[in-house]
Amino acid sequence: MILQVEDVHGYYGKSHILQGVSLQVDAGEVVTLLGRNGAGKTTTLKSIVGVVPPAQGRVIFEGQVVSGLPSYKIAARGVCLVPEHRGIFKLLTVEENLTMAARKESAWGLDEVYTIFPRLKERRRNGGGQLSGGEQQMLAIARALMTHPRVLMLDEPVEGLAPVIVDEIVAQIRQIKATGMSIILVEQNLEVCTQLADRHYIVEQGRIVYSGSNAAFLADEGVKDRYLGVNLAA
Ligand SMILES: Nc1ncnc2c1ncn2[C@@H]1O[C@H](COP(=O)(O)OP(=O)(O)O)[C@@H](O)[C@H]1O
Ligand SMILES: [Mg+2]
Repeated sequence: MILQVEDVHGYYGKSHILQGVSLQVDAGEVVTLLGRNGAGKTTTLKSIVGVVPPAQGRVIFEGQVVSGLPSYKIAARGVCLVPEHRGIFKLLTVEENLTMAARKESAWGLDEVYTIFPRLKERRRNGGGQLSGGEQQMLAIARALMTHPRVLMLDEPVEGLAPVIVDEIVAQIRQIKATGMSIILVEQNLEVCTQLADRHYIVEQGRIVYSGSNAAFLADEGVKDRYLGVNLAA
């Protein structure tokens, strides 16, 4: 097991958002966090990386308690969040965005990320702001890889993208998984989730209300209606 979240509670001000989230990720696994808008998926990722520090409970990464550490220290250990709004530098070129993030000890250099993201190689001299939405997402993931992550957390990586780009990014995430990367995926597109994941968790009102293997999830006719409702495209 690479990551264990134990009964984590999280607040924004006085709002008690995470009400005891427990989950785990094994090395090399892709797990999803599913759930309706506002369920607490993004907040769960933020609590893991210490941006919303757990008020109660623990996060254990590679056998060591990391909850309570400042988020830069958690990130430095290899817990990497690719946030929803991508956060690439629009005035820097693609390659500058990548090299800025590079760490000496990373197994991921420019060659490795360009192998997975050939479009970024083609566009390496373009400014980040000149990229399409899909290319910006690819750059955000590629940049995360350059930081030497041990667990990669992707928050809605294909949201708002055209189906053909979605397929491309799914294939790229699959290639990253094939290197042995552990991945937590938050995504509203269920088809994307079931194409990639080993296991799923469903979050509702700041709690995990379901967990199951991808096969069990696909075989359970009722689970989508019970927990996910209409805002998830099946
Ligand atoms: N920065 C914030 N300040 C206050 N409340 C927030 C903040 N971010 C999210 N929330 C609230 O926390 C709850 C969970 O949000 P979030 O984790 O973003 O949900 P999800 O990612 O599942 O859509 C929602 O009710 C949301 O309104
Ligand atoms: Mg969210």
